[in-house]
Formats: sequence, structure tokens, C-alpha cells
Amino acid sequence: MAEQKVLKIGVIAGDGIGPEIVREARKVLDCTARKCGFDIEYTDLLMGGASIDVYGIPLTDETIEKAKESGAVLMGSIGGDAATSPWYKLPPEKRPEAGLLKIRKSLGLYANLRPAYLYPELAASCPLASQDGGRSFDLIIVRELTGGLYFGARHTEVVDGLRTATDTMTYNEAEIRRIARTAFETARKRRGHVTSVDKANVLDTSRLWRAVVEETAQEYPDVTLSHMLVDNCAMQLVKNPEQFDVIVTENMFGDILSDEASMITGSIGMLSSASLNETSFGLYEPSHGSAPDIAGKDLANPIATILSAAMMLRYSFNLEEAADCIEEAVRRTLQNGYRTKDLIPAEAGDLKCCSCSEMGSVICGYI
Ligand code: IPM
Ligand code: MG
Repeated sequence: MAEQKVLKIGVIAGDGIGPEIVREARKVLDCTARKCGFDIEYTDLLMGGASIDVYGIPLTDETIEKAKESGAVLMGSIGGDAATSPWYKLPPEKRPEAGLLKIRKSLGLYANLRPAYLYPELAASCPLASQDGGRSFDLIIVRELTGGLYFGARHTEVVDGLRTATDTMTYNEAEIRRIARTAFETARKRRGHVTSVDKANVLDTSRLWRAVVEETAQEYPDVTLSHMLVDNCAMQLVKNPEQFDVIVTENMFGDILSDEASMITGSIGMLSSASLNETSFGLYEPSHGSAPDIAGKDLANPIATILSAAMMLRYSFNLEEAADCIEEAVRRTLQNGYRTKDLIPAEAGDLKCCSCSEMGSVICGYI
């Protein structure tokens, strides 16, 4: 008998709803593996608050090494309630989020892909006024993930008797060129249009960004390019998201715009993401956070994590069919009216309300 392919997956369940959504994603991955004929070897990794509780820091070097030994990492969410959790009494570099930034940087995960797609079944949950014929958009945000304000020098000091804080934003042309290439390559496999988002009317980093994206576009004559200022983009996303195919932008603009883009799909609980480096390695996580208010209540929507697992099969393991299979199962689950609480509009109609674990099981049933 031919040996089955074994996928080595690092798993960061994390904090808040992380463990429950990751449990459902693993359930779906296991069903998919049985159906498509591969095996999975999971390695549990600690990061964020879960790591602070054990090691006092949000990410250890050993965990980074273990992550590197896997083919990809699947992550739930990290962080807690900043007002009540003891993790936020620690200095900033020891808080849960610092673990996430460190793993992104240490593994060179510079390209963050965040698709935002409106399922026709969820049109009623979309907060935008409907258009003639209903809304329909399918865009992807390509966010630069290891540069900009997130990684520039920062400090707080007293200047002339006033507490004064400084963050710095730096980009070099190589950092811009590689993410621009990711965007153009992504557009090539989609509808062939890139919108590059910046604040070139004010920022030097944005002016360089625009120039380098223009230069890179010369390598992709089959892809069209336009530029948009970030404030206008925030507005256009709620006015006419149908105009976008691929949006490429720097780290912080991408953070903000991707939350906005996910919300217009009906629920932030639907959006998957992939953070990739130059190899096939990636870290896959839902775009939403750890939702400490509903943690442990079996209420969370596991779909974003399940779709992130599908992205992992596609990008890191080249298992296109298995990825399609998960995406199709999610579609059929929605078509058949299954919804976690976040997806139920005021006029619920015939929808079937299910818990986090029931949602995972229903999706498994359609694999
Ligand atoms: C995200 C999150 C993180 C970010 C936080 C938790 C540091 O908001 O992945 O979008 O800002 O990148
Ligand atoms: Mg964010």
C-alpha cells in the first residue's frame, strides 16, 4: 500500500474562544484527512496568555523552534480582556499580543491574506443597505505584516514636563516590493485588479509605497492597478465593496481595513486569514480576536478557523481538493440554514441556531 502523506501541523489554541474554535477546526481537518487520504500529526504549542501562565512570557524560543519544524501552524486566538485580565498588568512586551508579533517576525510572515466574501446566504446579516439585485462582493486584503508602525522603534518619555510617546513607521523598498508581488500574484489568480492603499498625501512611507508598487506593476502587465487613499478606502468599503478585487496595504492600515471588510460580510466570525513567508510555510488564524466575553460557552462561530484550515491545506500543503471540500461543506452548511448566534439576523426565519461544537459537527457531516 502506498504511504499516506503526513501533514505536520503546529496548533496554537491560545486564549479566550481559541481552544473551542480550534477543536472544531481539528474535527473538520480529521474528517477531511480520512476522506482525502492523508494523515495529520498535531503538535500543541503555547502562545499568548496560555504561555504567560506557564512560562511567564507570551512566546518562548522553544515554541518558535517547534513551529518551524511543522509544515504550517493553525491558530485560534490570543489575548484577554484588557480591563480585567492580569496579563495586562505586565509590561507591553510581555503581554499576549507581543507573542503574536514575535512569531510573525521570527518566522518572516510578511504577507497576510484576508479574504472578505459575502455568502449569498448571509446577505441578510450584511449591515450595508442592499443594492438592486442584492449585494455581492468578493475581495481580499493583502496586508504587509512584519514592518511599519508595529515594528518601528517606540518609547515614552517626559519632554518639557509632558509625558510624550513616539512610534516610528519605516518601510524600505524591498519590503514594499515583495508584498506588492504577493498582491499582483494573488490578483492574477482572481479578477486581475489591485488597489494599493496608502496615505501618500501626507506620509513619506506612503509616497515610497506608491512609487515601488508602480514599478512592480511593470512586471505584471496583465494586472490593472489603481491607488486609493486609506480614508477614502474606509469609505468605499461601506459604499461600494463590489469595486475591489485585491487590496494591498501596509501593516496598520491593513489591520483596520480588514476588520471593516470582515464586518460587512455579516459577521467577523466568518473571516479566515493566512500569514505567509517566502516558503510554503504559513500561520493560519481567524481574523477575529479571542472574544473573552463568550469564551467557554460553546457560542463562538468556528467557521473562520475552519476556513483558515482550508487555506492551510491549499497554501502550505498544496491539497487543493481537500481545501475545496471544506469550503464546499461550509457553503452547504449555510445553505441548509445552520447558524451560530452571531449569524442570526433579527428576522431569523427558518434558521437553525447551533453551538460552536454543533457547527463543527454539521460541517463534518458535509465533508
Ligand atoms: C490582527 C490583530 C493583531 C494585529 C493584534 C492582536 C496585535 O488585531 O491580527 O488583526 O493588530 O495585527
Ligand atoms: Mg486586527
